Amino acid sequence: MAESKIIGALEMGTTKVAVLIAEVIDTYRLNIIGSAVVPSEGIKKGRIYDAKKANRCVHMAITDAEKSAGVNLKTVYMTVTGSDIQGERQVGKAQISHMAKVVTEYDVNRAQEEAKRRQLPDGRVYVQFMRNPFEVDGVRVDEPYSVKGNELQANYWAVHADEVLLKRQIEIVNSFMVKVDEVFLAGLASGRVVATDDEKEKGIVVLDIGGGSTDYAVYSDGYVLRTGVIDVGGDHITNDLSLAFRIPWENAEQIKIEQAKAVIREDETDEMVWMRGDLSIGDRKISRRTIQKVVHARLEELFQVVKHDIDPILSEYKLSGSVVLTGGTSRLTAIEALAHQTLKMPVRMGRNPDWVIPELQGPEMSSVIGLLQFAFSDVSGDLPEQPRQRSLFSRFSGLLHR
Ligand SMILES: Nc1ncnc2c1ncn2[C@@H]1O[C@H](COP(=O)(O)OP(=O)(O)O)[C@@H](O)[C@H]1O
Ligand SMILES: [Mg+2]
Repeated sequence: MAESKIIGALEMGTTKVAVLIAEVIDTYRLNIIGSAVVPSEGIKKGRIYDAKKANRCVHMAITDAEKSAGVNLKTVYMTVTGSDIQGERQVGKAQISHMAKVVTEYDVNRAQEEAKRRQLPDGRVYVQFMRNPFEVDGVRVDEPYSVKGNELQANYWAVHADEVLLKRQIEIVNSFMVKVDEVFLAGLASGRVVATDDEKEKGIVVLDIGGGSTDYAVYSDGYVLRTGVIDVGGDHITNDLSLAFRIPWENAEQIKIEQAKAVIREDETDEMVWMRGDLSIGDRKISRRTIQKVVHARLEELFQVVKHDIDPILSEYKLSGSVVLTGGTSRLTAIEALAHQTLKMPVRMGRNPDWVIPELQGPEMSSVIGLLQFAFSDVSGDLPEQPRQRSLFSRFSGLLHR
């Protein structure tokens, strides 16, 4: 008889809380059996600022998804994002011990342990350790075993978060008697599905532009070299439009979705477009060029910040790869062109995998879909994309699971 297991994926985004429930049959088939997307409340820039409100919408999303799937969730995988999340390179060195001076498992283990030994300051907790290429006597090697030399260096991109903020998020889930299996960086979750293995080998930057924040991940030779979170997303554009035209947020959001474009064409003549106001402000005509200018300025600034963050790693690894855009804000007209102009790399739009039903295909869903795929490889025993360090995090989540 086919054996099945239920897995759940949860994203608490600034704009929406998304839950996917899937059934894993015989460890190799993944079937989405339930889903829910609920507007977020009490969550800003990926972080909870009003636990009561956040509780309400997360609860609603979990129960709606459970109802549609006809099952109760006991555990979920969860994405995390927020500007408190930081990464740094951690290295560990070991003298090569074998008489013949070739790297053995013993040296690899010592170097890796050394790299992960660093204690974080109080209040910080590790989220993920991403393995980067080893070095033997300063030369990068993919597979260190049997390489000759004197010194082996293990390298990691280690990601850590504010313990209180992360705990708050886990506690919300736990309060519905649901445990958190694993937390996973939102940007890496998106990267799992919107970038191909081939692109990750050649070099690619995944940019997930959400409502309150933007997650990026830089891959090369199959490794995750850098990740980061920038505190700017689509909601800042809405805010800018709301201030520029002195209109309520809802009207500004509507203008952004219906009229905005990320690039301004000089040969385009300006025209006035109707803005449908509510009863208090009435309908009004506003300049299309002014809309584009506001949108362009904010997005260009965002791409500049991304460029500033990733340029050092691109030049260190001599990366000439490409960029893939996802997240709700990637729906904005001509955003690809502006990303290309600013980042000076080829840019394409992300696509979710074909096995996902059309209703869940939008770019805002890629992180929760990627998370589900990660959960699937976790339970089906596939090697995860990068080895993760369970012990450090489970020390922390174990506390909350009791
Ligand atoms: N068609 C569109 N054009 C421009 N922006 C859009 C469009 N659809 C959604 N957005 C924006 O996408 C953002 C939400 O993206 P999402 O990935 O769901 O965010 P989060 O993961 O942070 O909750 C919002 O700022 C929303 O205004
Ligand atoms: Mg998101």
